Amino acid sequence: MAAEAHDILLLERVNDSADATLTGDGLHVRRIDHALDDEGLARELANTRMLGIRSKTRITGDFLRTVPHLEAIGCFCIGTNQVDLDAAADLGIAVFNSPFSNTRSVAELTLAEIIALHRQLFDRSRKLHEGQWDKSSTSAHEVRGRTLGIVGYGHIGSQVSVLAEAIGMRVIYHDVLPVLPLGNARACRDLGSLLKEADVVTLHVPETPVTRGLVDSEQLELMKPGAVLINNARGEVVNLKALRSALESGTIAGAAIDVFPDEPATNNDSYSCELAGLDNVILSPHIGGSTLEAQEQIAVEVATKLARFAATGTTTASVNVPEVELPTRPDEQVRILHFHRNVPGVLSKMHAIIAEHDINITAEYLRSSGNLSYMIMDCGRMKGTDALKRIEDLDETIRIRVLRP
Ligand code: NAI
Repeated sequence: MAAEAHDILLLERVNDSADATLTGDGLHVRRIDHALDDEGLARELANTRMLGIRSKTRITGDFLRTVPHLEAIGCFCIGTNQVDLDAAADLGIAVFNSPFSNTRSVAELTLAEIIALHRQLFDRSRKLHEGQWDKSSTSAHEVRGRTLGIVGYGHIGSQVSVLAEAIGMRVIYHDVLPVLPLGNARACRDLGSLLKEADVVTLHVPETPVTRGLVDSEQLELMKPGAVLINNARGEVVNLKALRSALESGTIAGAAIDVFPDEPATNNDSYSCELAGLDNVILSPHIGGSTLEAQEQIAVEVATKLARFAATGTTTASVNVPEVELPTRPDEQVRILHFHRNVPGVLSKMHAIIAEHDINITAEYLRSSGNLSYMIMDCGRMKGTDALKRIEDLDETIRIRVLRP
């Protein structure tokens, strides 16, 4: 049975705001400020049941099999590529992340770029840095009354919609799903009609087989000559060669690009961009979501998910195990949290064991997904640990955890 070590190890300088949430729930937090290799991490996790990482710690299936006490991993970032999610699920280890905490940060950067592109702000600034005083109103515009076309009206796209209307823009959007418009925004039937109508096109779609190359020369040709394009979504969504041609030929008037198809792995790598050197093109190194506020929100969100998992077994918003939203464990009750293989007959075996031991079940919850099931039982008084041992010994059991009064 997993040891009840009330302890979480946070690596890679997870934002401090995680600590209050975790310690407030009675967890003892330990920090190491960098990533560790497998051997070092296994040593540090010898008696620790939860781990918090950012993007530099790689967690493989082989590694997970060396840390039997580990019950949950918090990825204090957006992505979870650094963790072998299937292997973690097979071992009953829940993984959590924070997919939307930087939504506002991306939306604000987008607003800043809309205005900066309309005022040629970066170009004028560069000229002045080089000693050139260019105080003309040529090609400088207010954005009030202009039409913003949002492609992908999800978390970020819809926030951009609200902010843009607040500064007087007309908003149109296109999404593959029938999402409700906010404020006075209007849905466009298809991408083509949005491209023809918008003064600013901003992309907020995920990277999928369909969105790869979504904006290529054919789509750029549809845009208005004075229009600008913003891509703060994913690098593969825009063909940068085609965009360079469209900018050089005056097909469109400017662009702001935060994401690239072949981004370097570290801040120390150099990067040569397809659009470098063009006027009225803002280039930024994938910083759309990189703000201190977003880091704080990520820390609080992931810490909250881990604390709830520790205290009640709740797996809501886990990226790899069945999601179960659980109430607080009633006083005086024992809660059995049981991950098992999703095959017929497991529940009846568990019920038979519980009945044999004269234990009363007061509540039961179950969710299955793929090969994995997550079963939770709240039980009354329980003498000894024999029933729990027999459930743990079932062939189908992957992991059992018990919360006691
Ligand atoms: P979301 O999942 O909330 O919204 C995406 C929307 O795009 C959904 O409504 C979906 O139905 C729609 N969509 C999907 N395929 C489409 C298509 N072919 N045409 C039109 N609409 C389509 O995602 P969220 O959080 O708004 O993120 C949007 C993008 O921003 C993602 O690519 C994400 O990776 C990126 N991002 C970039 C950051 C940065 O630092 N620059 C930070 C955070 C997210």
